[in-house]
Amino acid sequence: MPASEIHILVLAGGDSKRIRTGSPKALLDLCGRPLLDHVLAAAEQLPAASRTLVLGTTHREPIEAWLAAAGRGEWRVAVQESARGTADAVMAALPLLPDQGKVLILCGDTPLISPETLSFLVEQAGGALLTAEVADPTGYGRILRDEEGGLAGIVEQADCDEEREAIQEVNAGVYALDLGALRRVVTGLGRDNAQGELYLTDAAVEVLQETEGVIATLVEADEMMGVNTLADLADASAVKRAEILDHHLSNGVIFDDPGSAYVEDGVEIGPGTRVMPFCVLRRGVRIGAGCAVGPFAHLRPGTVLADGAEVGNFVETKNAELGERAKAKHLSYLGDVTVGARANVGCGTITANYDGKRKHRTVIGERAFIGSGTVLVAPVKIGAGAMTAAGAVVLRGRDVPEGGVVAGVPARPLETKHASDA
Ligand code: UD1
Ligand code: CA
Repeated sequence: MPASEIHILVLAGGDSKRIRTGSPKALLDLCGRPLLDHVLAAAEQLPAASRTLVLGTTHREPIEAWLAAAGRGEWRVAVQESARGTADAVMAALPLLPDQGKVLILCGDTPLISPETLSFLVEQAGGALLTAEVADPTGYGRILRDEEGGLAGIVEQADCDEEREAIQEVNAGVYALDLGALRRVVTGLGRDNAQGELYLTDAAVEVLQETEGVIATLVEADEMMGVNTLADLADASAVKRAEILDHHLSNGVIFDDPGSAYVEDGVEIGPGTRVMPFCVLRRGVRIGAGCAVGPFAHLRPGTVLADGAEVGNFVETKNAELGERAKAKHLSYLGDVTVGARANVGCGTITANYDGKRKHRTVIGERAFIGSGTVLVAPVKIGAGAMTAAGAVVLRGRDVPEGGVVAGVPARPLETKHASDA
């Protein structure tokens, strides 16, 4: 089917009640990105004529603000006035969609869904429903099949009797449906169910029966994990985290203890780099080859380590560029800083980057030696090969020239005595 006839619809109009935080589920963090971002990014991999996101009135504002900030302006927003169910959410979007074509519908709370799976569903001529066999089907809609294995129905958890509750094949909440058929079917839906909602599942079954759609069953069930509660979020994060680590391990990155490494999505690490236990590497961090990180290091966004750089225990970095073989091995805060190649940042060094109003930058030259316990009050520059004595407090603007030596509080150039002075 040509992309010009495919329309993508993501449902995120629910009230997020089961999350219990009061905030929108869509914006919960999963490995450094909002839950919804994972879904939108997967859906963006598919060519399509239009992309629409359904939002509810409760959480519309923060989600729209995020969409704009994240540059996801390609998504049109349809507003669902109140959360009356997944079919009602679809109905809120129908006015934005054409009469004919195919619609791929996804839930905004299934962050692990892959673009490959979505493509496969869209390619099925008569439409498709995605299912999986899971050990614990709690919370998902159960798939009813007829004698020939065809789709007979989907029953929600709340509407299950004991026998149906035991069914382990569940609905992933992803459907490729004929738009014309869907338009006709949704108008006739009832709310005669335990939750009094308009169920998209009922509509999907009817449409797929009519168009002779297929049931596609996932081999790896994890991909369809739905996040309804914070416990679900923790489960999905664990799966995603393991995926991220596999990626780095296969690229030649050494993890002493993969189980204690928190590496967010979108981190680059070069081969031969060793990450010791209990490190947190945030989204966007870039680490070269042959570096050493941790144990207990926190590398925040904007951190770039050139090849062979070393960041040790209890070092926090943010907007920090460390040159080749630069070292900060112990107990430091390095924020808004450029550290030259082979510079040594001594134990306990702090870049005082914030004056209460604004952030300022520190520049440390190549091969500079920053003594233990130095405080660098930004903005300030330490020249190449310069040195600060232990405990020095280098005040803002009091740049240390190339090869210079400063000591004290506030730091002043150190008089160098010659043997002839004695
Ligand atoms: C839904 C399916 C279930 C499936 C599961 C997969 C229905 C009736 N049930 O259940 O069969 O196994 O997903 O994860 O569809 N939403 C709206 N407006 C609403 C209600 C929900 O936009 O009025 C959105 C939610 O924000 C969410 C998605 O639709 O992103 C699914 O809603 P949710 O309430 O989480 O459905 P489940 O109970 O998980
Ligand atoms: Ca859900």
